[in-house]
Amino acid sequence: MPRHLKELLKKDLTKKELEMMPTSFDLVGDILIFADFPKELIKKEKKIAKKVLDNLPQVKVVCKKAKQYSGTFRTPKLKILAGQKRKETTHTENNIRVLLDAEKVYFSPRLGHERERISKRVKKDESVLVMFSGCAVYPINIAKNTKAKEIIGIEINPIAHKYGLKNLTLNKTKNISLYKGDVNDILPKIRKKFDRVLMPLPKSAEEYLDIALKKLKKGGMLHFYDFLHENEFKDAEKKVKSACKKNKRSCRIISLVRCGQFGPAKFRVCLDAQIK
Ligand SMILES: C[S@@+](CC[C@H](N)C(=O)[O-])C[C@H]1O[C@@H](n2cnc3c(N)ncnc32)[C@H](O)[C@@H]1O
Repeated sequence: MPRHLKELLKKDLTKKELEMMPTSFDLVGDILIFADFPKELIKKEKKIAKKVLDNLPQVKVVCKKAKQYSGTFRTPKLKILAGQKRKETTHTENNIRVLLDAEKVYFSPRLGHERERISKRVKKDESVLVMFSGCAVYPINIAKNTKAKEIIGIEINPIAHKYGLKNLTLNKTKNISLYKGDVNDILPKIRKKFDRVLMPLPKSAEEYLDIALKKLKKGGMLHFYDFLHENEFKDAEKKVKSACKKNKRSCRIISLVRCGQFGPAKFRVCLDAQIK
């Protein structure tokens, strides 16, 4: 919460309430989302949201997360507290724009740097597979900021897939193909192998390691995402190495990058590995 807003709320909230004010939020396009709005402030949530709206001109909708990311589609439940009655917005990052409904599609603006990091690794003429592509934010980041030959995205949430298709048009990309469905059904039908495979589903990416490895060329790069406590970072390496052993491949671990924090000492990590 910006400090000046706390100042502005001094007349409306008690000292104790002011101390409880949420300190972090996400800005998805022009929608501001409080991730953890304290229940002690529920009675004053609309007043707080109105103040935010009146003082941050770029914000047109203020929401709180009523339920965290859940289910196969990893979508949140959002409650609008102030502003326009919509959850659709256009978000801008790394020279791209993505249209999405912040409740019907998984999207985190906090991963913009991670998407930039991956894009910087993509080399000329690579073919890239994004296994859980959402509204196509990774594929478009790569298409617009690299010289990749082709990018394929697969997404099971039909609404996210639909936004993905719209986003290809919005960004005028020519080298992305998006498929709607479960990676386990779609991938065996795509008769090609890739130079790079991204697995941005930290909750359960390990369940898909076998199929990811089958689709990687010899010497190809794997980006495996996981949620881990800092004491368990070695587990990501173990998961990838054990899947490699099972699939008779070998791997060279390149790096483990922290790309988000979701609790005390708990992180979203990306393990980069070259698969031989
Ligand atoms: C954490 S989100 C990431 C979305 C997107 N890559 C991004 O960074 O915004 C994971 C996505 O995987 C999709 N998903 C989950 N299981 C899947 C499966 N078996 N096949 C294809 N997509 C799947 C979900 O619907 C969700 O959109």
